[in-house]
Amino acid sequence: MQRSDLDILIDEKTLHARIAELGAQISRDYAGKDLALVGILKGSFIFLADLARSLTVECTIDFLGLSSYGHSTTSSGVVQITSDLSAPIEGRDVLVVEDIIDTGLTMRYLLENLSTRKPRSLKVVSLLHKPARTKVEVPIDYKGFTIDDHFVIGYGLDYGDRYRNVPYIGHKVR
Ligand code: IMP
Ligand code: MG
Repeated sequence: MQRSDLDILIDEKTLHARIAELGAQISRDYAGKDLALVGILKGSFIFLADLARSLTVECTIDFLGLSSYGHSTTSSGVVQITSDLSAPIEGRDVLVVEDIIDTGLTMRYLLENLSTRKPRSLKVVSLLHKPARTKVEVPIDYKGFTIDDHFVIGYGLDYGDRYRNVPYIGHKVR
């Protein structure tokens, strides 16, 4: 599906190859641990689905719904939990699965919130990272791709809740 209003930044083949690498690395690192994947809704749902299927270790899967106030293309850092985890994470090896880390404000809030729940370990995998826009440094333990300062859509990422089902990472050209 190539759309005339989008340019492809990362195609499907490249996404799947990199996610297979991340899956292999995470499987090695979490062997013998109690892995709890926590996907951040809505943006991470497609990445999480592919990442989870590339793992060779057991895991549980849960979701945390977040919405950030303010403009649709920038982060205010004021984040609201719209839907909480369905189970406690105390004592678990939690891996937060995020679509993109832009300013870092959302992830800083999340890590502070989740760490109060006393997981045994708490790490982050993000498909994308936009370092040009960093406002606060957050640890990204596993990173798919570093991208330039484009507003990107597809593969779960939205613009006004649209484009999430586009199977590649693209950016709008008009
Ligand atoms: P941060 O708090 O600025 O790091 O922003 C994180 C959240 O903003 C992500 O989880 C996305 O939902 C959204 N976001 C940031 N950049 C983009 C983008 O380029 N496209 C779509 N959503 C984005
Ligand atoms: Mg979003």
